[in-house]
Amino acid sequence: MKDFKNKVAVITGAGNGFGFEIAKECASREMKLVLADIDEESLTAAVSYFKHKGAEVTGVHCDVTLDSEIGKMVDTAMNTYGSIDFLVNNAGVAISGPVWELPLQDWDWIVGANLMSQIYAMKRVIPIMLKQGSECHILNVASIAGLITTNGMPAYHTTKHASVALSESTSFDLQAINANIQMSVFCPGFVQTDLHHHENHRPERFSDKSDPYYSSPQYAAGLKRAEFVITTGMPINSIGMSVMNGIEENQFYILTHPIYNTLVGRRVKDILEGRGPDLKVLRG
Ligand SMILES: NC(=O)c1ccc[n+]([C@@H]2O[C@H](COP(=O)([O-])OP(=O)(O)OC[C@H]3O[C@@H](n4cnc5c(N)ncnc54)[C@H](O)[C@@H]3O)[C@@H](O)[C@H]2O)c1
Repeated sequence: MKDFKNKVAVITGAGNGFGFEIAKECASREMKLVLADIDEESLTAAVSYFKHKGAEVTGVHCDVTLDSEIGKMVDTAMNTYGSIDFLVNNAGVAISGPVWELPLQDWDWIVGANLMSQIYAMKRVIPIMLKQGSECHILNVASIAGLITTNGMPAYHTTKHASVALSESTSFDLQAINANIQMSVFCPGFVQTDLHHHENHRPERFSDKSDPYYSSPQYAAGLKRAEFVITTGMPINSIGMSVMNGIEENQFYILTHPIYNTLVGRRVKDILEGRGPDLKVLRG
């Protein structure tokens, strides 16, 4: 996609971090914006930021873990602007903890936020894009965690690998019907955002903290580790530009951290040569 002017971008998790940065790039290309977020305060601030910049912008309070809320977002976009040309499935959370300890409600939450949200949105938006027939683009925000695996975050890796697979397989399906819809999947490494504050975005129905895991040292250590890797990550300022350049060049995989390329290559080699995960190798 190269022609953005007056087209409509729908962005989830747009109140902060990557979503907000991508929205800035869309606004600078004179797109109309539909910004969705569960965080009312950051959503309101984002909407007023873009209004002040003179952009056409609408905010939708939306919990992407619910199909009905995604429906509300899509209806708002269609009722306000009459089309959806660029869908950015960005909202997500990063939850750590081994599978034998992490409470099931956290699995429901992260699968809902990182994976089902993308499925709900694509299921609703692709038929709209097909009907429009004009050039459209869908960006799923996965992570480098969708191309490699490490210890400590099985739930995050599971959802991000699934997001990559969902994007790849849907791309095949769209090509099979000659759809005028391109797909990209964004796979960055650590970037300085608010991702480690995921507890602030925990939906009410996943908020039962009676499981002893939430008062365990493992839970506290997971939060600390997340804070460390995010706050020492790459600065966010180039992210919006990397994403939009990738889309302009119709790049499918959009990567930002060449430092991880060796790990991606090593994983493929390990698969082909039958070697399993080795913590000693991972830790160097
Ligand atoms: N920051 C990183 O290092 C990094 C690396 C790779 C991938 N990612 C991915 O990028 C995406 C954006 O994360 P970020 O780093 O910008 O974090 P962030 O926390 O700064 O922004 C995420 C936004 O999503 C919103 N959100 C969270 N749950 C939601 C829900 N249920 N419904 C609607 N909105 C919700 C939050 O309110 C927030 O505004 C995520 O999918 C994350 O997994 C981040």
